[in-house]
Amino acid sequence: MVRLSVNINKVATLRNARGGNVPNVIQVAKDCEAFGAEGITVHPRPDERHIRYDDVRKLSEVVTTEFNIEGYPNKSFIDLVKEVKPHQVTLVPDAPDVLTSNAGWDTIKNEAFLKEVITDLKNQSIRVSLFMDTELTFIEGAAKIGADRIELYTEHYASNYNHKEEIILPYQKSAKLANELDLSVNAGHDLSLENLRYFKQQIPELMEVSIGHALISDALYFGLENTIQMYLRELK
Ligand code: PXP
Repeated sequence: MVRLSVNINKVATLRNARGGNVPNVIQVAKDCEAFGAEGITVHPRPDERHIRYDDVRKLSEVVTTEFNIEGYPNKSFIDLVKEVKPHQVTLVPDAPDVLTSNAGWDTIKNEAFLKEVITDLKNQSIRVSLFMDTELTFIEGAAKIGADRIELYTEHYASNYNHKEEIILPYQKSAKLANELDLSVNAGHDLSLENLRYFKQQIPELMEVSIGHALISDALYFGLENTIQMYLRELK
């Protein structure tokens, strides 16, 4: 079974648009879990324009499923992660000012840096996943530096979904290689009700998806409880 982790950054973006505390991010996380989500994902960025560092601290006290924190491993991010000790951290190579994550790691160029970060986090018993493109040499690099998992960056899959039989091939190769190298496989970015089932069916190694933008947008039409159930159905 593939685990559904709901990325609640968009909920924080909505709250931040007005100041105040509506919608209440902490309550939304609890409700997502009550509605069937099997994990909560947050991506605190240095400018705190979505989820704030303080939200992450509060969420860590209430999340009862898997808590996954994504982000670029600068010092303040690492300090936060070590303070909060989530089940999983997903390291993402995004610059502070990008709109959203837009590439996976080059694990060759960043080998020494990542190895140090991964060792540090694993010493705290935090599972470490690396956000990755399908490039096989980078997957080999991820195994070499001790990552536990990779999260396949699925934007390219999603935006080429009308050629799905072709576009899935590199993801299948990467996931297979990852498993051979003892890396578990997550996926995320632009996954939706339209494209999720095919990805899940074609990637038997898949353990977890984290989904934010499409799921929160669907919730405007279907409600959060229905929407989470609809995504879960795609994964069963
Ligand atoms: N994975 C990573 C590393 C991300 O940065 C994001 C977006 O914050 C997601 C998954 C979820 O992407 P989406 O919001 O498109 O579902």
